Amino acid sequence: MTLLEELEVRLAIAVGKIFEPSAPVQVTSAADLRFGDYQSNVAMIHAKSLKQAPRALAESIIAQMDVSGLATAEIAGPGFLNFRITPEAYARKTTSLLADERLGVPASGDGRRVIIDFSGPNVAKPMHVGHIRSTIIGDSLARVARFLGYRVIADNHLGDWGTQFGMILHGWKNLLDRDALAANPIAELVRIYREVNAAIKGDPLLLDQCKAELVKLQAGDVENVEIWQQCIEHSKAGLNQIYDRLDVRFDDWLGESFYNDRLAPLVDDMLARNIARESNGAVCIFSDGKMPPEQDPFMVQRDQAWHDNPAIIRKADGGFLYATTDLATLEYRIDELQADEIWYVVGVPQQLHFRQIFAAAERWGKKAHCTHVGFGSILGDDRKLMKTRSGENVQLVDVLEEAVQRAAATLAEKNPQMPAEQRAAIAEIVGIGSVKFAELSQNRLTDYVFSWDRMLALQGDTAPYLQYSHVRIRSIFRKLNEAFDSSTAQLHLGTEQELHLARLLARFGELVPTVLEDFRPNLLANYVLELARAFHAFFEACPVLKAEEPTRSSRLALCELTSRTLEKGLDLLGIHVPEAM
Ligand code: ARG
Repeated sequence: MTLLEELEVRLAIAVGKIFEPSAPVQVTSAADLRFGDYQSNVAMIHAKSLKQAPRALAESIIAQMDVSGLATAEIAGPGFLNFRITPEAYARKTTSLLADERLGVPASGDGRRVIIDFSGPNVAKPMHVGHIRSTIIGDSLARVARFLGYRVIADNHLGDWGTQFGMILHGWKNLLDRDALAANPIAELVRIYREVNAAIKGDPLLLDQCKAELVKLQAGDVENVEIWQQCIEHSKAGLNQIYDRLDVRFDDWLGESFYNDRLAPLVDDMLARNIARESNGAVCIFSDGKMPPEQDPFMVQRDQAWHDNPAIIRKADGGFLYATTDLATLEYRIDELQADEIWYVVGVPQQLHFRQIFAAAERWGKKAHCTHVGFGSILGDDRKLMKTRSGENVQLVDVLEEAVQRAAATLAEKNPQMPAEQRAAIAEIVGIGSVKFAELSQNRLTDYVFSWDRMLALQGDTAPYLQYSHVRIRSIFRKLNEAFDSSTAQLHLGTEQELHLARLLARFGELVPTVLEDFRPNLLANYVLELARAFHAFFEACPVLKAEEPTRSSRLALCELTSRTLEKGLDLLGIHVPEAM
């Protein structure tokens, strides 16, 4: 049980002696430590219906509450209950965490089946900044969900079907450089796509040729299907290199093409159920008029009037669309994969698309808890969308490469004596970690400005600072001559700094589940920063190796627990820790 839960149990018993509350009593962690560690507004919520003054009610609750061995309680303001955990209770809690592999984190996911749809790059197009955010945020959510005991299916919904294949097929047949393809498959596929795309502009004949290639592919032409398959294989190989480097893994790669056979029957079913209807030859889902227009994703306001804003699921020429595929995907996930929840980690520009898909699914009777986990853009120094100098979209590989190079340069400067091979390995960990942490420490919905210097700084809110903190703690144990067994250690929290560090360590189990409440890995990112800062404050104020027993063992155990918690916190963010720096 977390300390928060212990307080809730005891508070509920006290409240139960006075009245029957209509909702479970709740305790929250205090925003401002000056007033205590936890608080509850239970007295303020119920005072009115009990016809009592909130402060008087708070007083009777406190009088009934057994806080012994756990906390002290006081009343603040109009009737808040403030609790301060005693140093002994923190010592007891952190001592028990030393023997807990889960570091106090509950398995609150309860085996719920969740599909996490993230990354989803498009074949023969490079991964751009939006895919960077999706990949890093999605992977962290998957790690947290797995740790909390959800049954996670991380699914890479690859954009492996669509009109771009007309151009790619034409390019493959006429422009392909086989050696370049072998050396760097994604780059070569992108090159041929770009060249055909540029040539088409002034050449209507070429456009027709590409369309003809696409029609052949869709009709199952053997040669084109085979080329298409090769494109997918090459793209996957290239993508896997990046995912390996990022240590991102998927359980499934069910790309758009996987759902091709399901699209036609889906549209028929939607028509039969009157969820969709024909309009100018196309098949569309319109509003069913059951929602107020401002909440209805199938309505849009223009010129002070509400207009239809349908989702098209079959074009007049018979072609299917992104929305059709996403409905088929959703159906498969719910009916075949038995999803309880589906999380779509996709940029905010696709918000309307997902609102329409979720609303249509509801009318269709497909039940799962679906969430669009949106995110903003990454901006360059000029506060405009991040682009390369030549004005192109920035590619993920290039960002990773530059981060690693910059980390290597700093390491070379700071550690000229370190063997080159070790330096390269650490630079990889630090560089990749920096890119991830810069992403995950932001509120996902805000646009953020990309800055190499800020994200690679050794001091500040960065991965290198956290990784260095971890190295620092481990170096204490390297200096130790004897074996240290933390499982038998007893913690005593004699100073303010030890107490604060223990307070944060005890909170890990409360914090991790909150990440999934609103899909905010930045809560965890902020937590690990706070933990590292608390460690440094402790380490400056309190000698460890030079302390007398039993303080020495207690402090060593505190270091041990900090190092494990920091490592686990970073692991849930997908960030590795090097052994030296
Ligand atoms: N391929 C899409 C894109 O690049 C992302 C796919 C997101 N997932 C989904 N089920 N629509 O924008």
